[in-house]
Amino acid sequence: MVEVGPRDGLQNEAGTVPAAVRIGFIDRLAEAGFRVVEAGSFVSAERVPQMADTAAVMAGIARKPGVSYPVLVPNMKGFEAAVAAGAGEVAVFAAASETFSRKNINCSISGSLERFAPVCAAAKARAMPVRGYVSCVLGCPYEGDVPAAAVTRVAGRLLAMGCYEISLGDTIGVGTPARAQDLVDAVARVVPVEKLAVHFHDTYGQALANILAVLERGVAVTDGSVAGLGGCPYADGASGNVASEDVRYMLGGLGVETGIDLDALVEAGRFICAALGREPASKVALAWAGGDGR
Ligand code: HMG
Ligand code: MG
Repeated sequence: MVEVGPRDGLQNEAGTVPAAVRIGFIDRLAEAGFRVVEAGSFVSAERVPQMADTAAVMAGIARKPGVSYPVLVPNMKGFEAAVAAGAGEVAVFAAASETFSRKNINCSISGSLERFAPVCAAAKARAMPVRGYVSCVLGCPYEGDVPAAAVTRVAGRLLAMGCYEISLGDTIGVGTPARAQDLVDAVARVVPVEKLAVHFHDTYGQALANILAVLERGVAVTDGSVAGLGGCPYADGASGNVASEDVRYMLGGLGVETGIDLDALVEAGRFICAALGREPASKVALAWAGGDGR
């Protein structure tokens, strides 16, 4: 399980959370047992003010041995800022839809890949791992259906650039299980399934079903966001990510070892939701709030 709440969750909040709260949030998630906690992004502060303090966040977290704290970088400027902040891992983010690519990062898909190539080369020179994202893999808020071939093309390019893992993002949460399986089958012809991760948003309540469906196809890594926070500022109507607590609960029931303590995870969700002034949206947190009071 990859936790993306401190980045994907907080980037979509109306208000900006102070760096000290982001730090406390990330440290709680690492303590809960995640080995990967996405800590923020180095993007334009004008476009995504919620992530403006990522350097301060990176300076303040208690880096736990064995835990990676990747940050998103859209170009060399972002990469250099990430290195200066002491990041040990970065993520580049492309899209399978042209219109979304332009709205999100202000360039075409091929233009974005040209920006990522030097990032991947510079990271390789530092032996720094790079994760790759492909957005809009099961639908685009501007273009509608997205062909699997478009996803496969971009995923293949990211792999060739050296990304150790490609996370397939259902940015607007429109996917359903059979389509998710078909997509994974198609992409796995180019990117080995061991290098694939999935990143579901839960707009239509399909995320857990989609995760289970692709687990059956051999995908072993899923992104999640505690308390179901999240969304992309350039994808109107997209709801939060699948809630990490609910993924953890499902995997526990399946006997899949995640290394994550569910109580500590729920606590991390309560911590950030208290700062945001709302209730956690995960089913686990709702059940526990009304049940045995854990
Ligand atoms: P641009 O406007 O095309 O860039 O932005 P530019 O090169 O023309 O520069 C414009 C200004 O931005 C300049 O400043 C640059 O210095 C500055 P000025 O000279 O005007 O003062 N700039 C930067 N500042 C900080 N960090 C940087 C950087 N680069 C340029 N790295 C850019 C291009 C990509 C920067 C911009 O469009 C941007 O920041 N977009 C926001 C993208 C974003 O964060 N989206 C959300 C994350 S993606 C997501 O959520 C999906 C995902 O979760 C998966 C899924 O769900 O599918 C990953
Ligand atoms: Mg996302």
